Amino acid sequence: MRDLLAALDALEAEAAAALAAADESGLEALRVRFLGRRGALTAILRGLGELPPEARPVVGQQANAVKAAIEGLLQARRAALRTAAVAGLASDRLDASLPGRPPRLGGLHPLTATLRDILEIFASLGFVVAEGPEVELDYYNFEALNIPKDHPARDMQDTFYITDDVVLRTHTSPVQVRVMEAEPPPIRVVVPGRVYRRDADVTHSPMFHQVEGLLVDEGVTFADLKGTLSAFVRLCFGEGTRLRFRPSFFPFTEPSAEVDISCVICRGAGCRVCKQGGWLEILGAGMVDPEVFRFVGYDSERYTGFAFGMGVERIAMLRYGVDDIRLFFENDLRFLEQFHAL
Ligand code: FA5
Repeated sequence: MRDLLAALDALEAEAAAALAAADESGLEALRVRFLGRRGALTAILRGLGELPPEARPVVGQQANAVKAAIEGLLQARRAALRTAAVAGLASDRLDASLPGRPPRLGGLHPLTATLRDILEIFASLGFVVAEGPEVELDYYNFEALNIPKDHPARDMQDTFYITDDVVLRTHTSPVQVRVMEAEPPPIRVVVPGRVYRRDADVTHSPMFHQVEGLLVDEGVTFADLKGTLSAFVRLCFGEGTRLRFRPSFFPFTEPSAEVDISCVICRGAGCRVCKQGGWLEILGAGMVDPEVFRFVGYDSERYTGFAFGMGVERIAMLRYGVDDIRLFFENDLRFLEQFHAL
């Protein structure tokens, strides 16, 4: 009997120590271990019948007391753990007044922003967007633009040939021909797109973007071309920007001109960007050559038109003061992040 009473005391002490160290998830296992049907206390109570009759009530009483004590400890521990958990929640609570961490937002690529602005300006002048293929027939890229196979003007543009008759287009001008073949005058389109040339240095890239313009109607004159391009330059580069037309040559326009704007950096005074000249070339233009009208079946006695073609990279370089065209294509975040506000 003494042994049993000692074992009960030891059991209570063991349960007290185990419960004191237990966390919430361990409590149930301890309840089973000490009080469960196969638990230590139940085993002692089952053995009561083998004790001498006079010992049974003593051990039974003591066993019940130990059982009540362990139940009490269990409940107390459960309550203590709950209180601690609630206190922890209170101190962990979300402080909704803290400023959030803003997600990193991307911005438009400077070429995309420039292209969109150019197209928006021409849309405000009544031009609609037309597009054509980048892999182009020699016929549209050269032939129908009055550049026959043996014409020296083909040397002006080093070309990527796919076959003898198929090229990566070297300019957006072939889309002029496709548009005129598809519809009769009046025509008023702008043509954005990628073009390709065997050309690479700080101001030339083997792939770059152009925007072509074409307007054909009765009575269109060089004055309309000047008016349209003057409006474009003012809207794109600001009111004070001047422009000048220099005589030039393109096989598909006659007369032809290259258009310069007063330097956007020094306003014409002369600086490194304009090589001290005060002027910067931005595009080629001219009156559509009657020979091109002949190719598309337009009556050149009745209709006249003007066309122009500008390099988007060139315009972006001038707007943002970028001095190396390759920066646009390297996708270096240190460069691109400077345009996040676009
Ligand atoms: C042409 O491509 C003509 N098709 C433009 C034209 C259209 C004239 C309609 C008349 C009528 P040009 O080869 O000059 O012309 O190129 C036009 C513009 O493209 C240049 O002013 C320049 O800004 C840009 N450009 C030319 N080559 C490159 C290059 N390798 N990299 C970046 N931009 C270039």
